[in-house]
Amino acid sequence: MKELYCVIGNPIAHSLSPVMHTALLEQNKIDASFVPFLIKEGTFTTVMEGLKALGISGFNITSPFKEDILPFLDELDPEAESCGAVNTVVSQNGRWKGFNTDGIGYLEGLQDIRAITEADRILIVGAGGASKAIFQALTHHTDARLTVANRTLEKAVQMVEGTAHKAISLADAESQIANYTIVIQTTSSGLTKENANLPIRLHDLTAGTIVSDIIYNPAQTPFLKEAKAYGAVTQNGLPMFVNQAAIAFELWTGKKADRDLMREIVLKQLGGK
Ligand code: ATR
Repeated sequence: MKELYCVIGNPIAHSLSPVMHTALLEQNKIDASFVPFLIKEGTFTTVMEGLKALGISGFNITSPFKEDILPFLDELDPEAESCGAVNTVVSQNGRWKGFNTDGIGYLEGLQDIRAITEADRILIVGAGGASKAIFQALTHHTDARLTVANRTLEKAVQMVEGTAHKAISLADAESQIANYTIVIQTTSSGLTKENANLPIRLHDLTAGTIVSDIIYNPAQTPFLKEAKAYGAVTQNGLPMFVNQAAIAFELWTGKKADRDLMREIVLKQLGGK
């Protein structure tokens, strides 16, 4: 019987996951459909029961349900557990296991620029869900020293609690920016076009620093534009977006995901708007 995969969220209409995954399923000759489902308020439990009853093979969860899924899982990957959030569920014989591929997807993109070493001093700006996933991936898979800076300092402090990593204010991050080899912008403030809304300014950035933004649309956020002006090597959120989906596909099917094809599809969709 044809297998079923889906992505659930609210909103969901603009998700690019269905086009990417449908192309990968076709390329790999897997007889399966991938569909988006809009979860209306108050229906999450019913939808979960429905997906279980239908024998869904796997699904992605996007905002705002990445934490709501936790009680419905039979098993949780340790990294997803540290994040307290799940974006991918794999079903094996009806047992659901939760993963978080956002952080490892980000790290894969970063490592395409260069290897991360213990000499790296990484500043993560923001302390929301995406920041937490990236923080966990960097903690689990690199020896770099991490600093989390956030507008609400308490959230950054909570994130680094029990680790050797640091939490600082945005003002301190800005004044100490020259000390970092990698800067990761994870706040939603980058979505606006205004420089005035930048979480931190980069005047003292050391040329050659890697500066990335998890936003991929627009392709160049004001943060990346400023970073480039100060000589940074920049990367937007496209690799993270493609890689998190690629890793989910690999968990579901055991087959290697064609990241070049996925990138092309996303760029075409964005360009065609
Ligand atoms: P996500 O899950 O996408 O990471 P989130 O959990 O809502 O989103 O977190 C948003 C992050 O962006 C937070 O770190 C938030 O800072 P606060 O914790 O102080 O709210 C940060 N953020 C949003 N707008 C910002 C702005 N204008 N300046 C600085 N930080 C901002």
